[in-house]
Amino acid sequence: MKATHSIRPARPEDAARIAVLGAHVWVHTYASAGVTDVIAQYVLTTFTREKILALLNDPGIVLLVAEAEANLAGYIVMRFDSYYADVPIEIKTLYIQDSFADRGIGSALLTHARGIAMATTGDRAIWLTVNSENAKAISFYRSCGMTQDGITYFELGGIKHENKVMVARH
Ligand SMILES: CC(C)(COP(=O)(O)OP(=O)(O)OC[C@H]1O[C@@H](n2cnc3c(N)ncnc32)[C@H](O)[C@@H]1OP(=O)(O)O)[C@@H](O)C(=O)NCCC(=O)NCCS
Repeated sequence: MKATHSIRPARPEDAARIAVLGAHVWVHTYASAGVTDVIAQYVLTTFTREKILALLNDPGIVLLVAEAEANLAGYIVMRFDSYYADVPIEIKTLYIQDSFADRGIGSALLTHARGIAMATTGDRAIWLTVNSENAKAISFYRSCGMTQDGITYFELGGIKHENKVMVARH
């Protein structure tokens, strides 16, 4: 099912909503075994209004929001000059609230971001990392034409979590 949604650059007044949606999606995606103290500390310190405002003030970042009937449904964060091999643009975050999943909003945000990449650098290429256990996101990125190009690790509470590096060059 396709949802009616619109995409635009985030504004400072969106920061609180983005932080709340980010925290919700992170917990829903990664804390399926319950919320530990390490997870609580990570979420409370990562998804804050201040950190979102800092991203909006960073000239190397583009943050786009997707809205459905004026409510936040998801967001994407692009970082420029964040190289993996010869690819300079990293997708740092792509989060869709679960009640809006599978309606084409994630692919629309990714397509929009790649359009910005093309307009800015003359190349649509992007890269990102995704948790190796996040089968849904890996399938989604494959369906968007991305392929695995390596392995990296995300450390939380002294535990290393394997991530796949995925790249789309065309
Ligand atoms: C992964 C995520 C970004 C996908 O966004 P979405 O809006 O649900 O995806 P879309 O509806 O745009 O799906 C786009 C395509 O992927 C396909 N797809 C989606 N989920 C899939 C799955 N589980 N398996 C295979 N294909 C899938 C869809 O069929 C669709 O293909 P189509 O356009 O040919 O019909 C979103 O579900 C999400 O935010 N998940 C939680 C957070 C997360 O894991 N983010 C990524 C971490 S790096």
